[in-house]
Amino acid sequence: MNVEVRKARQADAEGIAIVAGALQIGDERPVGAGKTGFLLWAQDPETYIRRIGISDQFVVAEEHGQIVGFLMAYSLGALSKLSAEMSYEDEVLRIFDELYEPSTIYPDQVGVLPSHKRRGIASMMDRKMLELSPNVSFATVIGHGPIRNEASIGYFTSCGYEFVRELEQGEWTLGLYQRLREKPSGRLTSHSPLSSP
Ligand SMILES: CC(C)(COP(=O)(O)OP(=O)(O)OC[C@H]1O[C@@H](n2cnc3c(N)ncnc32)[C@H](O)[C@@H]1OP(=O)(O)O)[C@@H](O)C(=O)NCCC(=O)NCCS
Repeated sequence: MNVEVRKARQADAEGIAIVAGALQIGDERPVGAGKTGFLLWAQDPETYIRRIGISDQFVVAEEHGQIVGFLMAYSLGALSKLSAEMSYEDEVLRIFDELYEPSTIYPDQVGVLPSHKRRGIASMMDRKMLELSPNVSFATVIGHGPIRNEASIGYFTSCGYEFVRELEQGEWTLGLYQRLREKPSGRLTSHSPLSSP
């Protein structure tokens, strides 16, 4: 495997949009989408360019000059500046705001071309993101219903994220997952208590 994982550049946006488009599911909700994983909100290249512009943690995987994976992540502080254009995530933002510091990193979208899945590429992108953002916590949401994104749950939990609770966002039930930063003692930082449903 000859995959390079690095910070995203604006010139990568076209390739990122192609990967995202290959993973997007529509309203028909194909059987099996939960097993392979899916994106609901693939974006156009202009949007990815803007997100790259506000992020220090947006990572891509490239093979032979082709973008084969991306991990779009940013701090909650940066995300709140974008909130106007991300109105579909109101409830998520509200809960993030309530629970986490602005330095917390939100991996918003992750995707690997179907032909390249299960080769450790998303795991490599996570390690790169960690390298770019030491000593911070991470929080994300994953589709639990009407389709349970088993691939995404498997991936994030394999990276050390833990399930916190479910929340409702429009017609979707989302699972909130977090990976808290470790204190020098090795203990996890505390956060506002929440009870799982
Ligand atoms: C989720 C996704 C990014 C994982 O990418 P990947 O490069 O295949 O992941 P890796 O090869 O690094 O897998 C790391 C671990 O994640 C878990 N995992 C990955 N795919 C999985 C799947 N389909 N089902 C269950 N667990 C899975 C496994 O524990 C895996 O380790 P293993 O291969 O040793 O068993 C990829 O499946 C994808 O692009 N899915 C569509 C988009 C998506 O669902 N994104 C998440 C919502 S934003």
